[in-house]
Amino acid sequence: MTTLAQWLVAETEDAALRSVVVSMADASAELAAVLRVAPIAGQTGLAGHTNVQGEAQKALDVISNDVVLKHLRENPAVSVLISEELDDAVHFENQGAFIVATDPLDGSSNLDVNVTVGTIFSVLPSAGGLLQKGRAQVAAGFVAYGPATSMVLRIAGDVSVFTLDGGGEWVQVVAAATVPEASGEFAINTARERFWDAATLGYVKENIAGEAGPAGKRYNMRWVGSMVADILRILMRGGIFLYPLDSETTSKGGRLRLLYEANPMAWLVEGAGGRSTTGRQDILDVEPTGIHQRVPVILGSAEEVRRVEDWYARG
Ligand code: AHG
Ligand code: MN
Ligand code: MN
Repeated sequence: MTTLAQWLVAETEDAALRSVVVSMADASAELAAVLRVAPIAGQTGLAGHTNVQGEAQKALDVISNDVVLKHLRENPAVSVLISEELDDAVHFENQGAFIVATDPLDGSSNLDVNVTVGTIFSVLPSAGGLLQKGRAQVAAGFVAYGPATSMVLRIAGDVSVFTLDGGGEWVQVVAAATVPEASGEFAINTARERFWDAATLGYVKENIAGEAGPAGKRYNMRWVGSMVADILRILMRGGIFLYPLDSETTSKGGRLRLLYEANPMAWLVEGAGGRSTTGRQDILDVEPTGIHQRVPVILGSAEEVRRVEDWYARG
């Protein structure tokens, strides 16, 4: 049995970096306990405010943000926190070596129906400033609060998966997650079809055509509506996730946020042998222009992502 602490020591000699991951693991363990009883505590509803993205905040969005903030503020290795739920970056008094960008609670629209939600985070060197490419990440991970509480992590090498046991210990369950090269599953919100561009429409139509179509095989569609759950599935058994630029999201640059959704997920998927793109550029090469910047997201099994890139290259 390998614990998170043992894995961290094997993964990096940088004790400060290890401590940042431990802070996020501690925050997530605390949140897992909160989420488990949230319907009883009446916390699954709206908080009554909107965040900087203009989205209605749920009580648990606010609680999750507070829990992550509390754990990171206590850690001298962290200089800055960027959060989906905070308009501005929080600069701590500590001159720590690392910046953390987080979506403290992803998929919160699924809370009232007891479907998997999660916490996503990206760790960057403080020296690089607030706006760094995903390529600069030194660690990234996410926690999925599902039937089991699972944490996916990457530091230097392989993508590892841990599960929180009953005693509060994170136990490794997968040493090196690998996204299969090919897959027969795709994930996209098909209710947005009328907004899609020609590339997205072309790719999805080929999949739906199945054995008789140009892809020559049958596909299944899966869409949880929590990126953490959709990406965990892709890391375990392959597939592709698409939240492309469409005619409704063009003015915003996309739906998902670069710093704390797209970048950490792209870095994990690439670390597990998959690919990621905006359609026209590797997500990890996108130069950020703002901390809440949005970006088109297409990632997963390499062969599927390449087919989408081919569609974009045509038009
Ligand atoms: P958040 O709850 O942090 O706002 O993120 C939700 C995201 C992501 O998890 C999911 O893939 C996507 O929004 C769902 O979008 P639709 O509402 O279009 O299904
Ligand atoms: Mn999110
Ligand atoms: Mn969120």
